[in-house]
Amino acid sequence: MSGLDGKVALVTGGGSGIGRAVALAMVDAGAAAVVVGDIDAEGARETVALVEAKGAPARAVTVDVTDADAVERAVATTIVTFGGLDVASNNAGVNGAGGRTGDYDVDDWRRTLDINLTGTFLCLRAELRAMSPASGGRGGAIVNMSSGAGLMGFPGLPAYVASKHGILGLTKAAALEYVREGIRINAVCPGSTRTPLLEGFMAQDPGIEKMITRGSPIGRLATPEEIAAAVVWLCSDDASFVVGHALVADAGATIQ
Ligand SMILES: NC(=O)c1ccc[n+]([C@@H]2O[C@H](COP(=O)([O-])OP(=O)(O)OC[C@H]3O[C@@H](n4cnc5c(N)ncnc54)[C@H](O)[C@@H]3O)[C@@H](O)[C@H]2O)c1
Repeated sequence: MSGLDGKVALVTGGGSGIGRAVALAMVDAGAAAVVVGDIDAEGARETVALVEAKGAPARAVTVDVTDADAVERAVATTIVTFGGLDVASNNAGVNGAGGRTGDYDVDDWRRTLDINLTGTFLCLRAELRAMSPASGGRGGAIVNMSSGAGLMGFPGLPAYVASKHGILGLTKAAALEYVREGIRINAVCPGSTRTPLLEGFMAQDPGIEKMITRGSPIGRLATPEEIAAAVVWLCSDDASFVVGHALVADAGATIQ
């Protein structure tokens, strides 16, 4: 692939799982440089080392996506270090606590919405300002990370499901606002993907992985690389007429 030739990329939540795979896939697709933002400084540094091992320059930035100033600083660092921002992948997310809606703790609700939805909004907002020609940017492409849980209900995860639906609404609204400024905004809805986030969830009960695998039309989890390929394609000029789309990469789980 060479769909991102010469592009400068920012990947938030890039210190692990899907975000790490996105950072590496972007380099394979020709990205000139990658900034890896994560609240986990060590994870971000590890991803940077993997990117550099592929021969591309990279920089780790410690950022909590719920902190508007820190997000602005991460984007500013990208521009100062590598001369601009062309593509961005917003991945930072958490499962949040489990529980039925009637008993759900309001602090758990706020925390999950804050990271997954407000965090995505803050990243998107800062990236749009950096990419907008009106503020000196050169256009670009942004991909927000939703989920199959952005399209369907999953009992026991009300905050997660609400946050991932919200990401799709935000993606569509912003996509229409910015398409004429040369900025395309899309989302990816992955199915169950083998990452530390899902491994942690499955570790609660050995039956969970069997249940997920049984419920999957293809009979297995996705690899982070399979999801990263969808993100890279949406970021590339090959997707030049794809705007506000929720690309479902779940082997058919949501169409059963
Ligand atoms: N793994 C799956 O099955 C799956 C399925 C659908 C959607 N997703 C979504 O994909 C994204 C990545 O998930 P993953 O499975 O790779 O998980 P992961 O836990 O491996 O990676 C998530 C990363 O986000 C970072 N992060 C968490 N809170 C943050 C914050 N406040 N600020 C900055 N960084 C923060 C973590 O440190 C971690 O590096 C998430 O948005 C998740 O909801 C995952």
